[in-house]
Amino acid sequence: MELLELEEVHAGYGPTQVLHGVSMKMAEGEIISLLGANGAGKTTTLRAICGGVRWDGAIKLSGRSLHRMSTEDIVRSGLAHVPEGRGILTDLTVEENLRLGEHLRRDRDQVRKDYVRVFEYFPVLRERRRLSASTLSGGEQQMLALARALLMRPRLMLLDEPSLGLAPLVVRAIFEIIRDINRADGVGVLLVEQNARLALELSTHSYVLEVGRVAVAGLSSELKGNDSVRRSYLGY
Ligand SMILES: Nc1ncnc2c1ncn2[C@@H]1O[C@H](COP(=O)(O)OP(=O)(O)OP(=O)(O)O)[C@@H](O)[C@H]1O
Ligand SMILES: [Mg+2]
Repeated sequence: MELLELEEVHAGYGPTQVLHGVSMKMAEGEIISLLGANGAGKTTTLRAICGGVRWDGAIKLSGRSLHRMSTEDIVRSGLAHVPEGRGILTDLTVEENLRLGEHLRRDRDQVRKDYVRVFEYFPVLRERRRLSASTLSGGEQQMLALARALLMRPRLMLLDEPSLGLAPLVVRAIFEIIRDINRADGVGVLLVEQNARLALELSTHSYVLEVGRVAVAGLSSELKGNDSVRRSYLGY
């Protein structure tokens, strides 16, 4: 069974249609990248999946329809969303932000173990846990957003431009951790990225959106090697 499946998804804001029939699917434990120019509808696609925008069509998580489900119920069924801009609450401490990730969980023993693992991935968060999240650098805030998502024990993580505004070395480090998380925990990752080159390296399959439609889809290794796709859609 597919982990995630979108079929002919239409979505928009008020009278404005943004997605015009997006279909895509990903298998359990896979990394998929969702690429495309500014305004193509990448963020809107993630919002549709997590119930943040009205949509028509079909969206299924492990075969189960997400139609009319509340965002909270969608989270409970295994989906964690790291939104554009990271969604860190800068009035709270690092620790309080992390608690928001796991507060719906009942398996307290496993939660404690997950904190240990999260702090192995991101030791800086343990050092800073009592400090306000506003004191973290951009890269550290991205780590906090990922850590908080991991503490939800998701089956699928939606990551909206984790590289945005970060120095290349920090981006590399974060992408390696995303790969480790995917391999160690089998978490599926749907990655929205402007940095197509890196995203194609990390993912097995990719979808390229163009004004709310899937323009190209395929194996990342093949898209990477296709000069005309690269020039027309990926801008490098
Ligand atoms: N809250 C909103 N209300 C109205 N229109 C919106 C809203 N959010 C996005 N849009 C519009 O929807 C279209 C797609 O936006 P979206 O944010 O999904 O694109 P994107 O592919 O994520 O772009 P970017 O790479 O710039 O993040 C754009 O034309 C945008 O102006
Ligand atoms: Mg976006």
